[in-house]
Amino acid sequence: MSDEEDMVVTPWEVRGKVDYNKLIRQFGTQPLTDELMKRLQKHVGELHPQLRRKLFFSHRDLDVILDLYEKGTRFVLYTGRGPSGPVHIGHLVPWIFTKYLQDKFKTRLYFQMTDDEKFVVEQNLKLDETAKLAYDNSLDLIALGFKPENTYIIFDVKDISLLYDIALEVAKRVTYSTAKAVFGFQDHTNIGWIFWPAIQAVPCFIHTKLTGEIVPSLIPAAIDQDPYWRIARDIAPKLGYYKPAQIHCRFVPGLGRGGKMSASEPETCIFTTDTPEMIKKKVWNAFTGGKPTVKEQKELGGNPNICTIYQYFLYLFEENDEELVRLSRECKSGDIVCGDCKAVLTERITKFILEHQKRREKARDIVGEYSISRN
Ligand code: TRP
Repeated sequence: MSDEEDMVVTPWEVRGKVDYNKLIRQFGTQPLTDELMKRLQKHVGELHPQLRRKLFFSHRDLDVILDLYEKGTRFVLYTGRGPSGPVHIGHLVPWIFTKYLQDKFKTRLYFQMTDDEKFVVEQNLKLDETAKLAYDNSLDLIALGFKPENTYIIFDVKDISLLYDIALEVAKRVTYSTAKAVFGFQDHTNIGWIFWPAIQAVPCFIHTKLTGEIVPSLIPAAIDQDPYWRIARDIAPKLGYYKPAQIHCRFVPGLGRGGKMSASEPETCIFTTDTPEMIKKKVWNAFTGGKPTVKEQKELGGNPNICTIYQYFLYLFEENDEELVRLSRECKSGDIVCGDCKAVLTERITKFILEHQKRREKARDIVGEYSISRN
């Protein structure tokens, strides 16, 4: 993939070099300003590294959510996952952030597992496969420490009877021409895909059906999902709901040259089920900003901005901002070489993944407690 390639960002495809400021303009979202961060900080105490580092960079109506919250109206969180394969570290980044918001605001999370969407959209997946992946992927969510008391996982196919009436209310109010303009449907697009956005809108509103409370939802997710929320926001007032608000994050890069972490390139992607040997191999083969030889690196220094290893420290594996600055400085000056960073990163990822795997196994016994249709 070349950097010059035109940027394409849709819910199904992310291509080219992503220019996040341009995305804010193209999608018509709002930048997450320092002022808004300060407001958030009043409620959460410490800003999460993903906020401080502007990995979450854009929003819709986060200010409205805070206005309401300050006047005593709570909100619920909603996010989700299209189970088309195993979970990798890139998926965990916004989920970890969601957990932080949940802990700070003590609020409910609705999490949608879209086995239906992935069946309809992916040529090669059968329905029992996406359902199995939905179950499997939910173990990763639970392993992050979400508590059943305030976490409701929606398995679309299994739970459809709970969703269907709201989906119909939504679908009736979205015209084909709007959906086509937003999603770019073609003549050969199957019709399952055309109805599907109504289902992704449902969890924005389901809290009211379950509890009678009318509260807004806040959706932390990568910005590629934004087209769905344009539709949901459009029809929300017509149905008597608040418009769902969003807080958008960047794409977690893969370990290869350019591009987001994607399961279709398994060599550049760390899965939560990888062994220590696999992790080591992937990290050691990663694309870095280093010079080809140690001698050149020491003389000329490296470029952390293009380095995937550095990105991993930035996104997840170095919480201390000063350490991050030090890494960048010592890389640029040639005081450290790629091997140094790779060794540290391998160790941190391995430790994280091994602990995650233990919690993931334990999650098998308790998944049922998280289902939205639990008794
Ligand atoms: N469409 C998303 C995907 O393919 C899955 C999803 C459903 C989602 N609801 C969501 C993602 C809410 C983020 C937030 O991955």
